[in-house]
Amino acid sequence: MTASADTSALSPSHAALHFPASFLWGAATAAYQVEGAVSEDGRTPSIWDVFSHTPGKVAGGDTGDVAADHYHRYKEDVALMRELGIAAYRFSVAWPRIVPGGVGPVNRAGVDFYSRLVDELLAASIEPVVTLYHWDLPVELEGGWTARDTAFRFAEYAVKVAEALGDRVRTWITLNEPWCSAFLGYADGEHAPGHHEPAEAMQATHHLLLAHGLAVPELRRALPADAKVAITLNPGVPRPASTSLDDRLAANKIDGLQTRVWADPIVRGAYPRDVIDFTSSVTDWSFVHDGDLAAIAAPIDFFGLNFYNPGVVAAIPEGEPRESRRLWPGCDDVRFVEMPVERTAMNWPVEETGLYELLMRFHRDYGLPVMITENGAAYDDTVDADGSVHDAARVSYLRRHLTQLHRAITDGVDVRGYFVWSLIDNFEWAWGYDKRFGVVRVDFETQRRTIKDSGWFYRDVVRSNSVPVE
Ligand code: FCB
Repeated sequence: MTASADTSALSPSHAALHFPASFLWGAATAAYQVEGAVSEDGRTPSIWDVFSHTPGKVAGGDTGDVAADHYHRYKEDVALMRELGIAAYRFSVAWPRIVPGGVGPVNRAGVDFYSRLVDELLAASIEPVVTLYHWDLPVELEGGWTARDTAFRFAEYAVKVAEALGDRVRTWITLNEPWCSAFLGYADGEHAPGHHEPAEAMQATHHLLLAHGLAVPELRRALPADAKVAITLNPGVPRPASTSLDDRLAANKIDGLQTRVWADPIVRGAYPRDVIDFTSSVTDWSFVHDGDLAAIAAPIDFFGLNFYNPGVVAAIPEGEPRESRRLWPGCDDVRFVEMPVERTAMNWPVEETGLYELLMRFHRDYGLPVMITENGAAYDDTVDADGSVHDAARVSYLRRHLTQLHRAITDGVDVRGYFVWSLIDNFEWAWGYDKRFGVVRVDFETQRRTIKDSGWFYRDVVRSNSVPVE
């Protein structure tokens, strides 16, 4: 099942940065990216099934029909985690498995799959961490996230999952990266449902937040008192290209849409005034009803943060042509600047100090504990003749980011855990199977799993609760 273990990364001669004793080391996946079995045991289609089956939407025409076959191979995948010593597994529950069609009674067979998975994890002493929504919305929910009703349907679904798994799962994440659901899904169209309407993205933003806010008290009612409830955001870390006021204002706009429009209402019960103003060209915000912001501000226990890379943002000088971008409503006077640094296979810059900045900023501005619920990198892995995968670039990416994570903890940030994205290679949304994020390789022809060097590196990190200093 695995190639030979490389333990050289942590020889005793290396200095190491130690993490707090209670630090939770995990690995993450998401239902549509790994499960496959899309028509089994009563599951109905999600917006991602429809989207991936629409010609031209996903590279290579790939779909999640089979994915990494985790639905059938979950025992093997739990055994892999055990071999790597991973202490927690963040997976997502597919709404259309639990409530086919999005509304109505619970589908027992769907619940049973996650129940078996949770039992298998607990038997291996691995803590299950559930994400309730990682983008696979039941297609039957008319209007998707532009419909206010979807928020109420989500809260109903969330309770059903909590009732089924709440006796064994302590950590609950309502939504994964709602910025992607709203802006990639409804403004830019790179993600399902593939719309191109910035106004819809703003509506979706509010309804996603409302879904989260309505679900939190319902989850608390259904779960034991010590359960933790959170949301996972993907704040972008936009850096101004210079210290000029214009560049700082430009970066602040991007920050408004990626971070503040999400975290401010959750923590402070109010949308940022500047975001309301600069998006007024696309929406009048009349979708915000009385009482919504109070609901959205339901207290949570921590923020889940996903981090991959920072960005650099500049103002477009007066007189130069504006860039009309659907993805960034009200930001036609803003441009993104290339960072002269190394890149991953996604063409994403590798700049680990962005993780430190993100953590310090959340600590300063929002004050809640945090958990890194995703961090990792895609590279074009090669398989040696003996089956091993020497993914030195991914090892370096992880080592550098964990070093910055350690730095933030040393500087006082309350970080509870870290989840590598991803446990296994999987369906990388619009990029299909070409982009590999796993610390375990999946051969999608045979479904054979092989632990990469990064997986062995991560095992040593978890085992020693420390990161080696380079
Ligand atoms: C995040 C998603 C996750 C994965 C990584 C690479 O935005 O949450 O599903 O695709 O990016």
